[in-house]
Amino acid sequence: MQDPKKFRRSLGRFATGVTVATCTGADGEPFGLTVNSFSSVSLEPPLVLWNIAKVSRSLEAFLEASHFGVNVLARDQRDLAAHFARSATGLFEGISFHRTGHGVPLLDSSLAWFECRSYQRHDCGDHYILVGEVIAYDAADGDPLLFYRGDYAVLSDG
Ligand SMILES: Cc1cc2nc3c(=O)[nH]c(=O)nc-3n(C[C@H](O)[C@H](O)[C@H](O)COP(=O)(O)O)c2cc1C
Repeated sequence: MQDPKKFRRSLGRFATGVTVATCTGADGEPFGLTVNSFSSVSLEPPLVLWNIAKVSRSLEAFLEASHFGVNVLARDQRDLAAHFARSATGLFEGISFHRTGHGVPLLDSSLAWFECRSYQRHDCGDHYILVGEVIAYDAADGDPLLFYRGDYAVLSDG
C-alpha cells in the first residue's frame, strides 16, 4: 500500500448506511459489532455480505455461527453505532433485543433487519467476507443513519 491514509480517505468518499451484525457464540453469549461493509449480493437466491476484520474479538463467533443477523440503524441511533463499535464484552447489557428461533439476536428498534443463514465465507486480506442467505427480513419507516468521510451523517434535502 503506497499511501494508506490516502486510500482510507478515498474509500471514505463512498457514503454507506450503518448496521450492527449480530450472532450467538458457542456458549450462548450474544455478539454484535458495528458494520458499514454490508451489501446486497443476489436476489435469487437472496444473498447479502459484509466483512469482518480478522482481529475482531467476535471473529470466532461469526465464523462458527450457523446464522447471523444484520440490523440497519436509523438516523437517531448514533449512540448504538458507537456502542457496538467498542471492543468489549457484555455489549448487549441494557440493550433491547430479542432472539429468533435460530438464536440470532436482533435489535428491537432497527430501521430494517435481515436474518441470515451462513452461506459462504471468503478469506480476503485482513478481513473475511461473510455471505449470508436471507431467511427472514423486515423494514420500518424512517431515515437511515449514514457514514461518510469517517463520520456519521444523516440525509438532508439541501
Ligand atoms: C461506522 C463503522 C463501520 C464499521 N464497519 C466495520 C466492518 O464493516 N467490519 C468490521 O470488521 N469492523 C467494522 N467496524 C469496526 C468495528 O465496529 C469495531 O472494530 C469493533 O466493534 C471492535 O470490537 P471487536 O474488536 O471486538 O470486534 C466499523 C466501525 C464503525 C464505527
